[in-house]
Amino acid sequence: MNRDFVFHNPTKIYFGRHSMLHLEDELQKYGPNVLLAYGGGSIKTNGIYDEVIKALNNTNKNIVEFSGIMPNPTLAKMKEGMELVRTNKIDLILAVGGGSVIDLAKGVSVSTYARGDAFERYWLKREEVDNEVVPVGAILTMTGTGSEMNGGSVITDEKRMIKVGRVFTSFAFPKFAILNPTYTYTVSHYQMCSGIFDAFSHMMEQYFSDFDNPVTDYVLESLMRALIDASDIAIKDHEDYEARSNIMWISTLALNTITGLGKTQDWEVHAIEHQISAFTNCAHGMGLAAISPAYYRYILPFGLPKFKRFAINVFNIDPRGKTDEDVAREGIDALDKYIIDHDMPNSLRKLGVERTLLSKIADSVSLGGGYKKLTREDVYAILFNAYENE
Ligand code: NZQ
Ligand code: ZN
Repeated sequence: MNRDFVFHNPTKIYFGRHSMLHLEDELQKYGPNVLLAYGGGSIKTNGIYDEVIKALNNTNKNIVEFSGIMPNPTLAKMKEGMELVRTNKIDLILAVGGGSVIDLAKGVSVSTYARGDAFERYWLKREEVDNEVVPVGAILTMTGTGSEMNGGSVITDEKRMIKVGRVFTSFAFPKFAILNPTYTYTVSHYQMCSGIFDAFSHMMEQYFSDFDNPVTDYVLESLMRALIDASDIAIKDHEDYEARSNIMWISTLALNTITGLGKTQDWEVHAIEHQISAFTNCAHGMGLAAISPAYYRYILPFGLPKFKRFAINVFNIDPRGKTDEDVAREGIDALDKYIIDHDMPNSLRKLGVERTLLSKIADSVSLGGGYKKLTREDVYAILFNAYENE
């Protein structure tokens, strides 16, 4: 069933080996004060930092550095950025990194001039933003989250042990994003695989839903197939340009709102993963991989026709002579095998989560779901199955 939708994605994308050449043109559009936001230092060792500084100097910017943004970025770090924006009258936040850096940049962007407690209002109570927003530009160095072309900002309140995602509408999207696939060559094998599964999971979260949309579902199937092909190559050869560029663009498309149009979405795997990450600080995509087989096996009976379609159209399962349920289950078995074959943990045990944490995690997960609305007991059963999965 097609649902009404509004589509507005204002992020300008510069894609390819020479995309950084456009940075100076973009910088000219903003005032002199730039907050250069980045992570733990990978951009200094791989040379991206020098390229960015050169463009900032060529355009006479005053550079305020905001470094040390950690994976699963914290509320305390966001407050540090807000202070820098306020005191230096920042005109543009330039985020150079993966999802964590870009998410935090967006968080700082919407929060700095908020009235009251921004995290409470915008992340927890999901109020509309009613203050000035500082523009964000992104230079992507690690693929997977889609943060470069969406309004998502996932922040961890480390004191309360909660990781909360907020999806803002188009005003909070990066104004521009530079996507050079060669920048991702230095990402570790582990993080590359984590990013690949993050994108895969975004597509499944949107694909498996109560109300389908024929166009969006075919787009998703094509992108999932393309991701399987590209990741098969990339795990053997990190510097295969075609594979890495396909993974980069698929990841962007997988969560730039196009792949969710006109249908309902699930997102419970993400809700569960966010709490696993709040308790263990695991890499986001690895947490998703560890839960997904158990989650989908659990909800499969409630959405059987779509799971059958997934098995046939995404993983080429031959349906002849089999029941619908057998076909559907073979599809999730193929997903499980894909996870193992791409060097990811298909269980919480393999991810290194302590069994004793499962109950605490189940208590803290926000309850939702697609084909099946989950109770706390359902979440615990999924976590238990995800722990035991072989
Ligand atoms: O900090 P540095 O030194 O840069 O190292 C990073 C980090 O340790 C490293 N890295 C990034 N680019 C590199 C590189 N290392 C070498 N060479 C490069 N070119 O990779 C590590 C992980 O980076 P991070 O940004 O944390 O990874 P990712 O892009 O997976 O982002 C994860 C965060 O995004 C959130 C996740 O929850 C998590 O907090 N998400 C954001 C979403 C959104 N905005 O829509 C949706 C997602 O579902 C997700 O929840
Ligand atoms: Zn994700």
